Amino acid sequence: MKIDILTLFPEAFAPLETSILGRAEENGILEFNVINIRDFSKDKHKKCDDYPFGGGAGMLMTVQPLFDAINSVWTENSKIIFPSPVGKTFNVKKAQELSKFDHLIFVCGHYEGVDERIFQLFDIEQISIGDYVLTGGELPTMVIVDCVARFVDGVISKESLESESFSNGLLEYPQYTRPQEFKGLKVPEVLVSGNHQEVEKWRQEQSLSRTQERRSDLLEDR
Ligand code: ADE
Repeated sequence: MKIDILTLFPEAFAPLETSILGRAEENGILEFNVINIRDFSKDKHKKCDDYPFGGGAGMLMTVQPLFDAINSVWTENSKIIFPSPVGKTFNVKKAQELSKFDHLIFVCGHYEGVDERIFQLFDIEQISIGDYVLTGGELPTMVIVDCVARFVDGVISKESLESESFSNGLLEYPQYTRPQEFKGLKVPEVLVSGNHQEVEKWRQEQSLSRTQERRSDLLEDR
């Protein structure tokens, strides 16, 4: 999967080179391309923002550099995403859907927003990562990219995806590793019993009770 990220702050994306995503790129499964929107500005000072018509707080990103930046990477098969608090809320279903594309283009907004005409010029899906406002689209892009990448074949094991939170509509069960006892706290007996059926039953019960206690809304959606 090719992922182009258009931003005024390319340095914000250094974390993509680390850990699981970095390895996926080294293995040729993912290809990241971070592009500076400012390089496309036709303004003599490379300006990419201006005052909103009609007045109001702050500055908006101008449409020309955005249009040219998107155009430089767009093909018929591209899916364009603009992280924004006005989009539908991101979830695991959306992540799985996006993981099926061969090419994603993320456009990171900054300042108070962007000139609305960019949404008339391209088919762009706006996605929110939650009901709060961040200073720009860089962190939400990172969140969405990270989550989507996990569903791309070969990035992480299928087994990990199957047992994690939300995969079956429930939160994941608690887990333990060595030592078996720490500061008087013991690992639940069933997990060291060697009885796989009992372990599975315990995990299902834990998943359900955790979900009931912390996220009963997930049970209503099942
Ligand atoms: N940009 C600023 N806030 C955001 C949010 N909550 N989700 C996605 N993009 C954003």
